[in-house]
Amino acid sequence: MSLRLPRPPWIVGHRGAAGEAPENTLASLALALEQGADMIEIDVQLTADGGLVVFHDESLERLAGSDLRTESVDRAALAALRVGSFGGQAIGIPGLGEAIAALPADCPLNIELKRQSAATARLAAGLVEQVEGRCQVLVSSFDWPLLEEVRRLGPTLPLALLIDDLNAPDAASSLVAAADRLEAWSIHVSAKAAEAALRGLASGPRPVICYTVNDAIRAQELFSWGVSGVFTDFPGRLRLALGLSPGPQFH
Ligand code: G3P
Ligand code: MG
Repeated sequence: MSLRLPRPPWIVGHRGAAGEAPENTLASLALALEQGADMIEIDVQLTADGGLVVFHDESLERLAGSDLRTESVDRAALAALRVGSFGGQAIGIPGLGEAIAALPADCPLNIELKRQSAATARLAAGLVEQVEGRCQVLVSSFDWPLLEEVRRLGPTLPLALLIDDLNAPDAASSLVAAADRLEAWSIHVSAKAAEAALRGLASGPRPVICYTVNDAIRAQELFSWGVSGVFTDFPGRLRLALGLSPGPQFH
């Protein structure tokens, strides 16, 4: 399976359109779609009872009005996470299935797996089961052993390695070796990375996408180094500032 995306540069909605809607909610996904994101990124974790939920933090502290505030997602039951409020608005944390159902089937979806203390095998199996047969899914993680397990269970699933510090010694070479081994589709790198390292990576065979970029001048600079896309909290605003077309129409 491969992803279908327009020609770069790509504008990827970070946690939906997190700058203008509560992050990782269905409202945020809908806004990212409306704003012409080429792909939408969400964070996904395993709950104590094996559910997959769309939520970034390990802790539930930011889930206001919930009795679960002091707990972590992977110690909570799926049903208990369904009600709460976030950023002052009443929401339920969406399940991964709900998020997938809310998006048009041809909209590329980047599922970033956050493992926290959950078992690798359980999370990988749950994920592969939920996305099997769906096109346009890209699974990424900072947790490369987790991606190895996803690859084992989903031999054709597009994968992306995430790296925070590309400037560390040997980081780029071990990243490329892992990407080759996993047959990764893309590499996702912090926009803090140095120019030479990003240029080197971008001259390789895989698209490089940088997070999190809300500034058009910075995005333009990254694209000029060969970076293919940026994760942004403001997909519509960034498209406009970069003079890009209104974005794809999904069905
Ligand atoms: O997937 C790119 C980016 O979302 C990684 O960092 O902390 O925002 O999930 P974070
Ligand atoms: Mg993320």
